[in-house]
Amino acid sequence: MDLQPIYGTERPVPSVTNHLIAPKAPFIVEVTPQERNILSGVGNLLMKAFKNYDNPDYISALHLHAYQLLPERITRILSRFGTDFSADQYGALIFRGLVDIDQEDLGPTPPNWQQADYSKLRKYGFICSLLHGAVPSKPVQYYAQRKGGGLLHAIIPDEKMSSTQTGAGSKTDLYVHTEDAFLLNQADFLSFLYLRNEEEVPSTLYSIRSHGKINPTLRKLFDPIYQCPKDANYSDQNKPGTGPTASVLYGNQELPFIRFDAAEQIFSEHAGQSPEAMNNLMAFWEEAKPLINSDFIPESGDVVFVNNHLCAHGRSAFVAGQRTENGKTIKCERRQMLRMMSKTSLINIRAVTDTHDPYFIMEEHLGKIFATS
Ligand SMILES: [Fe+2]
Repeated sequence: MDLQPIYGTERPVPSVTNHLIAPKAPFIVEVTPQERNILSGVGNLLMKAFKNYDNPDYISALHLHAYQLLPERITRILSRFGTDFSADQYGALIFRGLVDIDQEDLGPTPPNWQQADYSKLRKYGFICSLLHGAVPSKPVQYYAQRKGGGLLHAIIPDEKMSSTQTGAGSKTDLYVHTEDAFLLNQADFLSFLYLRNEEEVPSTLYSIRSHGKINPTLRKLFDPIYQCPKDANYSDQNKPGTGPTASVLYGNQELPFIRFDAAEQIFSEHAGQSPEAMNNLMAFWEEAKPLINSDFIPESGDVVFVNNHLCAHGRSAFVAGQRTENGKTIKCERRQMLRMMSKTSLINIRAVTDTHDPYFIMEEHLGKIFATS
């Protein structure tokens, strides 16, 4: 076994050392046909042995399965990713061509996520869970999202919404957010497996590391004065401006982590920021906007793997079920994506997890827990 290279020959070589160049794009891992084959075989094997990825016998030994079954290069990349918070680390990896997706077997995209057929998604759930296991991190579910809804969520644009979406060419801002910015125990790692992306919607990413050194604008974001409104689709929204506050940047003062949701914290009518907080956020947004990266267009079988404390992801407008080719609008299958979220420690989140299920996070808003009974 070769213990030296972590990324093999594919690790990017910084042209200037001493961290003078801030990373502006995710690292892309080209998955080899051999690795893809191994993963496919492993997915089939695990389905036979455990039936579902939430099987307690499987999930409690997830890290063991990951280290035993994943191709070694992929395990090493993910293991390194889990501990790398350096100035060079963008906070997102793209695994290009990780999974072979049988489009015929998948069938047409369901009208909405409520109608997703998870029996067709089990193999992909096993493969995604292994990636988290290699970090190592544990897949979890959140009551705040779909009241749980399992460890794997199908992300599907609602068919009824497609006609109300703005046109693909509209100048809608690329709103980026870290997942569940309104929770103290938000996911540590996220994976997005693209089953199909025929509309060719770019993946939108933004990393706090892209700014380079902390400047006075960023320094102000360490103050715990910022409202983090819950998702707009909650009906029991607090009166704007009356909720708990948090800092946007946290952790290390020089190489910080980030909690941020542009849509909810700046542009929503519920944002409720104080004038000082809003000024700081707007100044930050002006610096952040040009650093948003939407160069990569995921294809079927690609996985975007994100450190949710370093890198935010996007909400870009697109018309589901169509794309433009040579100036013409062409119909296509609507996008379908699978999201998995994970925490590196179940012990640290125990105060907010379900009494009988330590993988189920019951936090409602910045430390407050849902009253479910
Ligand atoms: Fe998200």
